[in-house]
Amino acid sequence: MTTNNDLGARRKFLQGAAALGSAAAAGSLWPALARAQGAKVKVGLMLPYTGTYAQLGVAIENGFRLALGEKGGKLGGREVEFFKVDDESDPAKATDNANRLVTRDKVDVLIGTVHSGVAMAMVRVVKESGTLLLIPNAGADAATGALCAPNVFRTSFTNWQPVHPLGRIMAERGQKRAVFISWKYQAGEESAASFKEGYEKVGGTVVKELYLPFPNVEFQALLTEIASIKPDAVACFFAGGGAVKFVKDYAAAGLKDKIPLYGSGFLTEGVLEQQGAAAEGLLTTLHYSDALEIPKNKTFRVAYNRAYKSQADVYAVQGYDTGLLLQQAFEKTKGEMDKDALIKAMEAAVIDSPRGQWKMSHAHNPIQDIYLRRAERGENKVISVAWKALEDPARGCKM
Ligand code: PHB
Repeated sequence: MTTNNDLGARRKFLQGAAALGSAAAAGSLWPALARAQGAKVKVGLMLPYTGTYAQLGVAIENGFRLALGEKGGKLGGREVEFFKVDDESDPAKATDNANRLVTRDKVDVLIGTVHSGVAMAMVRVVKESGTLLLIPNAGADAATGALCAPNVFRTSFTNWQPVHPLGRIMAERGQKRAVFISWKYQAGEESAASFKEGYEKVGGTVVKELYLPFPNVEFQALLTEIASIKPDAVACFFAGGGAVKFVKDYAAAGLKDKIPLYGSGFLTEGVLEQQGAAAEGLLTTLHYSDALEIPKNKTFRVAYNRAYKSQADVYAVQGYDTGLLLQQAFEKTKGEMDKDALIKAMEAAVIDSPRGQWKMSHAHNPIQDIYLRRAERGENKVISVAWKALEDPARGCKM
């Protein structure tokens, strides 16, 4: 039999437990417990390690580990434990993959990913769970636009940013009728929209948008169509393995010397060597150039090359900056997993990046310079700053 007294005591106990639970969830008790147990900061890496974006995922992880390595592999003095998932750049698997890290592994910080469609699912998962999310590549405009949230940060770019200045550069060269070509998915379509917006402002016309499904590389029919349209120029968004094939096919189709090809700079990131002569002279816009004459860029490139025996690219930089951002935040909290304090610190962070110094916009996306680059003998040479301190308009962000 249960007496009233028993019930009262039980209720009190439950209330106490609930209070303890929510205090721990709010981060006030957890740090003390965590320190007492020598707990590690759990970092989830959800990146592509297979498929057309595989080398992008690897570069991001390398860059991130390089930044951590500069502080003994720790965050605010705490050891880091990694949980890894290959997201295969597959949006259909993205919600399950993100939930594995958030719910099963209970990561403190989720880092990912490359593909915009996969990132959208991650944003939705962490908006539910409250987990900190740092996006080290995917440009999905909504992540720091209509879906912006206090716990969602991006260390890379929005799809709107890199191509925004591109139309003006083409118009200045007298090229006013262009075709835009890309993969039919969020990053391709948002790049096309941003390019068009910038191009039309300076009197340019996008005469046709051409798409193929992601990550297909059967470009032949579309290249034939470009030849028959005869635009003044072609602008594009491709990246990774697909970008290698596109640049080579464009040259092999005999178009390179007839219809100038431009792109968001991902076109020639990390792949110049594989593209060879087909890439020579391509003009692109991006928030990084390997040839930037910034001391930080030089030391970063040397350290990256020494550690991984390969050349750093924009993806490595974004991974590195993700590490720098987390380090700044955890140094502020002295290793404590105090989410509100970490968010405040990341909002106020100034990142001394190989791309040049940048800070967060109110929507949590980098405010950064966009460079015009020319591919020359395996390097993306800086021609000029195409846009100084470009901030994404963060359309629909209410924060
Ligand atoms: C994206 O899907 O947002 C994306 C992928 C690869 C890039 C840039 C953007 O290089």
